[in-house]
Amino acid sequence: MTFRVLEPRPTTGADQLAIDVLVGLSERPKRLPSSLFYDDEGSRLFQAITKTPDYYPPRAELEIFESRGPELLASVAGSPVNVVDLGAGDGHKTAVLLDQLLQEGSPVRYVPIDISGGALATVTSSMAERFPGLEIEGLQSEYFNGLRWLGEQSDRRSMVLFLGSNIGNFDKARARGFLRQLWMALNDGDLALIGFDLKKDIEQLLAAYNDSEGLTSAFNLNLLTRMNTELGADFDVSRFRHYGTYNAETGAMESYLVSQEAQTVRIPALQATFTFQPWEPIHTEYSYKYLRSDIRDLARFTGFEIVDEALDENGWFCSSLWRAKKG
Ligand code: TRP
Repeated sequence: MTFRVLEPRPTTGADQLAIDVLVGLSERPKRLPSSLFYDDEGSRLFQAITKTPDYYPPRAELEIFESRGPELLASVAGSPVNVVDLGAGDGHKTAVLLDQLLQEGSPVRYVPIDISGGALATVTSSMAERFPGLEIEGLQSEYFNGLRWLGEQSDRRSMVLFLGSNIGNFDKARARGFLRQLWMALNDGDLALIGFDLKKDIEQLLAAYNDSEGLTSAFNLNLLTRMNTELGADFDVSRFRHYGTYNAETGAMESYLVSQEAQTVRIPALQATFTFQPWEPIHTEYSYKYLRSDIRDLARFTGFEIVDEALDENGWFCSSLWRAKKG
């Protein structure tokens, strides 16, 4: 008996979108994965959110890097290091750290990893312009594929950056899974600098996810526009509203698109029709907030030791530096 092994045919972006939407809108409650936010328009809107006064995390993290960066980087300063950036965004927070490392005379290889070729092109060219002579090795890949590449680079220490509230988008069990997979990809002594948005006054959280300029609402509603454009759907965006709320039991900010009336939406690319009852929600995002004890527990559980931690002045955000312990 013989058989052939067929290599998996890679799904295209369009196939993946169709599958994600079909699965998500067939669930009860309906949901859409937050990875769908970041088409070109969504990425642009998110960058605009990061500049609003209400959305504090980027400012808090930048403040930490500007005031405490050199201390956080002390354990790698002066020696060769791979700075691996998971989901770099526009890279302007990372640039502060690269600048500090280069000033310490560390030979730096900058390795941004992103699934979006466009995002990667932008961040690599802006870093090359800002730091002439910086060694850059961009990887267009899923996080874990990229991390596998990283595990093979044992010639020098790696420092993996997982900034913003990226870790918050995983629920607590998936955050453990993700960080354990990160641990598996690292060599003994490699570092991870992880951003954790801390639990804080709930009014502050609600303002951050319902900014007064309405950009968060536009960002969330853009998911519907994206389905209209790419799947031929006929969502009437004006009949949905953005709703952001805090769940104190799970410790997560939750975002929803809520149907304000009974309606039926056709999605020709899926040959499917979806009905919405009045006030039926589509869940679109979790953003988990941490206690400092949660961070310690997470590090211990996944095989890391905490080397250093820094908070912003308000105590809203924590940059936690971890070292992988092996053997
Ligand atoms: N995931 C990011 C966060 O948790 C991005 C984000 C900010 C977001 N505001 C949002 C995602 C509103 C969905 C809806 O901070």
